[in-house]
Amino acid sequence: MQSQEIRKKFLDFFEKKGHKIVPSSSLVPENDPSVLFTTAGMQPMVAYLLGQEHPKGKRIANSQKCFRANDIEEVGDNRHTTFFEMLGNWSLGDYFKREQIPWIFEFLTKEIKLDPKKIYVTAFIGDPAHNLPKDFESAEIWKNLFAEKGITAKEVEFGTEKRASEIGMGGGRIFYYQDKNWWSMSGNPDSMQSGEPGGPDSEMFYEFSDIQHDVSFGKYCHPNCDCGRYVEIGNSVFMEYQKKSDGSFAKLPKQNVDFGGGLERLIAASNNEPDVFKIDTLFPIIKEIERLSEKKYGEDFEITKSFRIISDHIRAAVFMIADGVTPSNTERGYILRRLVRRAVVHAHKLNMNDGAFAELAVVVVQTYKNVYSIDNKIIDIKNILITEIEKFKNTLDKGLKEFEKGIDPFVLLTTYGFPIELTLELAKEKDIVVDVKNFEEKFKKHQEISRVGSEHKFKGGLADHNPKTIKLHTAHHLLLAALQEVLGKNVKQRGSNITQERLRLDFSFDRKLTDEEKKRVEEIVNDKIKESLPVVCKELPKAEAEKLGAEMEFGAKYGDVVSVYLIGEENKWISREFCGGPHVGNTNELGEFKITKEEAVAAGIRRIKGVLE
Ligand code: ALA
Repeated sequence: MQSQEIRKKFLDFFEKKGHKIVPSSSLVPENDPSVLFTTAGMQPMVAYLLGQEHPKGKRIANSQKCFRANDIEEVGDNRHTTFFEMLGNWSLGDYFKREQIPWIFEFLTKEIKLDPKKIYVTAFIGDPAHNLPKDFESAEIWKNLFAEKGITAKEVEFGTEKRASEIGMGGGRIFYYQDKNWWSMSGNPDSMQSGEPGGPDSEMFYEFSDIQHDVSFGKYCHPNCDCGRYVEIGNSVFMEYQKKSDGSFAKLPKQNVDFGGGLERLIAASNNEPDVFKIDTLFPIIKEIERLSEKKYGEDFEITKSFRIISDHIRAAVFMIADGVTPSNTERGYILRRLVRRAVVHAHKLNMNDGAFAELAVVVVQTYKNVYSIDNKIIDIKNILITEIEKFKNTLDKGLKEFEKGIDPFVLLTTYGFPIELTLELAKEKDIVVDVKNFEEKFKKHQEISRVGSEHKFKGGLADHNPKTIKLHTAHHLLLAALQEVLGKNVKQRGSNITQERLRLDFSFDRKLTDEEKKRVEEIVNDKIKESLPVVCKELPKAEAEKLGAEMEFGAKYGDVVSVYLIGEENKWISREFCGGPHVGNTNELGEFKITKEEAVAAGIRRIKGVLE
């Protein structure tokens, strides 16, 4: 079974059990500045887990795009990826353990036909310090389910992973751990933030019997051992607690379930294939790397590791860019930059040439275009990748040479663009010691200086709702339409700022405009103004607005129902934009439009300023 089939089976299965299927949220969390990326399917559901009513009801399921930056350095083995799809189902104060555990067991054994003998499970041993009880109930439910399959499921109490590796599995099937079986977004009961929901969980593991335990991970193997013999394929979190400000735990008003399972790992288990990079969502990228590098995947460990890093990172980068992230030196942009640069260093190891990444991006888009709407963004994705790689490539060879000489990591960062994590990783490979403390001191000073500059940054959007600003706002829509008419449909808005004095529009385009082009753009805008066209607003479901071909700003986020501003006669619109307004009622209110400036603001992005006279 491959990705399409398993994704569908999961969603169909839970739909039949009364769940409403919702689309994946963006990788960039909405309305949550505390986290950089969506790391679990439950993240966009937190408000509902805490008790708010979900518009779709109490049973929800989906397949969610996730990215875990913590796993960047784990990538290279047979199962870790930074980007992954999490299949999830939620009970929002509805069913609980007695329904969830049998359903998920049915899904694993009947729908994707896993051999129950290869499934091992875990449960929460309790946490006396926080007054959190042992989860006997889940264990009992599992015991009965295994018994129905003729399997006697013995229980073993581990507590910590350390103890597990000391005593071994002892013929058990259900294992009790402490912190490993508690789930919240920020970890164990101690590290949780006040107000955060969490709860005991029960995890399912699949046994890849062909993988022999490796004692470098501990004397004995156990489900949470990192050797790769047991791989976690699902996690049912019984979210019924909330941490209070005094550090204690209180029960939430309702009991919830938050199940998540990594799609690729489920596919891997259903095929008894321990290498997730051989799954249909990743293998085409591996194949393309084989073609481009003329090397063979699986040939030797270091080469295989580079294949995995490149394919994971390029896939994550494509999805990030599609959700509006661009490379930079801070926050999300920095993570993206780190991924791209790390991938380039590994591509360099495989002697791949610079053009390879655009080709790999196309493979990613092809693989996912029927599941997530990313193929309409391929031009931007390629441009951003190519520009970022160019920037780094120019200094990569020099930087690597300087690195060999043992250069200061701060210089490697500022002059050659090597993220510190990359320098540390290269240093580890070569047994070079890096003075991290010295780096941090220099970096702090450097940041203080750059912060002064960024405090004066301009905010996007409308400065106010003065009639002059509103007129310029409508002119802004006409300008975008005129730019697309003159320069081509690929011109996309990348930013905007409108005051009473002037409009400012940033858009994707790779060269300076000629005088003729600017003149033509002005003429088109002024013609539309003279035609006295009505400006109308429609509230539409997002999908319908997209069908209408409405322009969206790249990277901006929109809700389920959106407002679209249309300029022109009914069905002969000359401008269609997702927009919250306000606008004038008719273009004849605007006056005469003039471009006052046209300049570059970043690679591939131009800026126009204009006025109405
Ligand atoms: N939220 C749970 C997890 O990420 C399901 O493992």
